[in-house]
Amino acid sequence: MSGITGDKMFSHIDRIIGDRKPITADIFLTNYCNNKCPYCTYGRWELDAGKTYMRYEDFVMYAERMIELGVEGFILTGGGEPTINPDFGKITIWLEKNGLHYGVNTNFNEPAYIKPDYLKVSLDGWDEESYEKYRGVKRYEQVRDNIARYASWKRTESPGTSLGIQRVVHSCSDVYKFYEANADLPADYIVFRPVESTGGNFYNHMYAGEETEQIIQAIKTLMKFDSRVTLNFKWDLLDRQEDSCTAQWAQIAVNERGQVMYCCHKPYQIVGHIMDDDILEKKRKAGTDMRGCDIPCRMTAPNMFVKSMEQERENACFI
Ligand SMILES: C[S@@+](CC[C@H](N)C(=O)[O-])C[C@H]1O[C@@H](n2cnc3c(N)ncnc32)[C@H](O)[C@@H]1O
Ligand code: SF4
Ligand code: SF4
Repeated sequence: MSGITGDKMFSHIDRIIGDRKPITADIFLTNYCNNKCPYCTYGRWELDAGKTYMRYEDFVMYAERMIELGVEGFILTGGGEPTINPDFGKITIWLEKNGLHYGVNTNFNEPAYIKPDYLKVSLDGWDEESYEKYRGVKRYEQVRDNIARYASWKRTESPGTSLGIQRVVHSCSDVYKFYEANADLPADYIVFRPVESTGGNFYNHMYAGEETEQIIQAIKTLMKFDSRVTLNFKWDLLDRQEDSCTAQWAQIAVNERGQVMYCCHKPYQIVGHIMDDDILEKKRKAGTDMRGCDIPCRMTAPNMFVKSMEQERENACFI
């Protein structure tokens, strides 16, 4: 399992030079959560006071519309925690019954015996104390148990599902602590991800360069003897500020009300509703303030790829 990387755009050259229809949909199934992660990207804005979730019937209607628009893969995420949507079970059964590609980002506080392409558990902790520090609740052992039970179930019931555990890294020692405590889990991949923040503020301090270099080295050391360890591609993009979101069209982000957001990092910028006849046009026309972007961003690599394809080259006739 690898994340969203620039080179995946090689598989979509037809879309880049063609109709530029969305490839992936990020769907927020809830706007509420059972964790309280202090670093959570969605804690930055006052979005909607009321708790809302996407109902099964609406999910089906929106998903069918997205397929019509070109979507090939669905990511069930948030906003909040997707698995605590009361219709989560029905939604995943529908996706599976229809043979659709889907992935789930989850804190997995609630176990779910589902068959996605990938199930990525945001575990973050190495004991109850660290879990509480980063996730706001004491569920470390509970989540480990949920992961272990799920892994043994999927061995026979859904061997194609890639099961991952993730730590959002705040300092170098996190990498070793997380690995030592959780390497025994039967996960297919272990990913260390950088903190994403507005304008990359989190890494804008004097010693950030040195510190991130140490983190990357620590991850690379683990990769040498455990092939499950993955270096998230965003570590190479910490200082990359884009001047436009050139590949924005490749994703479509829909919240629990069916509203289309500029991207999953900008839930405050609604560009229309998924059921609007002209939603792709509205999306295409929408501009955004790039100073409000998260750095690093999952779209940076696809952006670089598309930008480089669009670039005019002198003397192109001489190969
Ligand atoms: C917003 S959560 C939604 C799904 C689910 N609640 C979860 O925690 O996995 C999606 C992913 O974003 C990560 N995330 C949230 N805030 C982040 C930040 N500021 N920097 C990096 N990753 C972040 C979480 O750890 C999680 O893996
Ligand atoms: S579990 Fe996910 S959505 Fe909930 S607070 Fe943590 S990162 Fe945010
Ligand atoms: S945060 Fe910025 S770069 Fe990232 S997807 Fe949104 S607009 Fe594009």
